[in-house]
Amino acid sequence: MERGEVGDVRKKRSKWAIPLVLLVVLVLLIIIAVVLGVTLTGRQSAGLKTDFLNRCQNFKGYDCENIWKTFKQVFVNRDPCNVSEEAYDPLIAAVPFKRLCNQTMLWSKTNKAVHELTTGRDCLQTIEDTVLGSSLNNLSWCGMKGSEETFTTGCPEWNECVNNSVRSFWRRASAAFAEAACGDVSVMLNGSISTPFNPTSVFASIEVPRLNSTKVKSLNIVLVTNSVSNCSNASLQSLKTKLDQRIVYTCKEVTESQITDCSAKPDCGRCW
Ligand code: APR
Repeated sequence: MERGEVGDVRKKRSKWAIPLVLLVVLVLLIIIAVVLGVTLTGRQSAGLKTDFLNRCQNFKGYDCENIWKTFKQVFVNRDPCNVSEEAYDPLIAAVPFKRLCNQTMLWSKTNKAVHELTTGRDCLQTIEDTVLGSSLNNLSWCGMKGSEETFTTGCPEWNECVNNSVRSFWRRASAAFAEAACGDVSVMLNGSISTPFNPTSVFASIEVPRLNSTKVKSLNIVLVTNSVSNCSNASLQSLKTKLDQRIVYTCKEVTESQITDCSAKPDCGRCW
């Protein structure tokens, strides 16, 4: 081969080298994306079911597989922003909240403190201590139109759309939980904020209106306080007026350390 011909072949090769490399990289990227997509979706779906069943099975006497199926049917193959509160009716009917007399504990902006008090102590129960609440606490779930999969990532945020699968569940379940309350009911509110009773909260907008005076004797505020708000706080005065007037209202200021001490007491006597 002449020198000139060798040069031509090299030129031709180098002309194709870059597009070829790009093509190979693109194909590899597509393969990686597909493999990752398939495995991650599978894991997410299995993860939600596994978490749900493991948590549910900590409670005796429930058919957790059936509860899972009823739960899943509410949101799979649906737009995640188009799941109404009523869509959860069959789930609530399948796992009704037991009537809890003198044991119901509601809360708002006190997630950590209230569960420190109720976990491991059967005296008071929050919705998260019930089989349904516990099985779904801190989880995120949604479906997608045209798919039978369940998803745990990419689901709408709480306030992203009104009828999202997670928000609708907690609102529907909280309504049923409050309707099941009876006798003396407690609520733990946060005294380190200026509006412990916030009208937009689930407690104010869903639970308070459903406390039924034919069953509920009193609503007892436990205000976890560190000096910002006390029982004379304006928002608490408004709670008093919003409450069915036949329900007795009480308010007690407690400290975090009183809660810690109380949670260590095995008996259900009064703590404050
Ligand atoms: N993102 C996700 N979840 C949220 C969000 C949000 N932005 N806001 C509220 N929630 C859900 C979560 O489950 C959270 O743990 O509501 C819970 C409590 O929210 P708070 O604002 O602290 O209180 P509140 O809205 O009053 O709801 C608590 O509702 O579930 C019932 O019985 C329960 O009495 C309790 C009340």
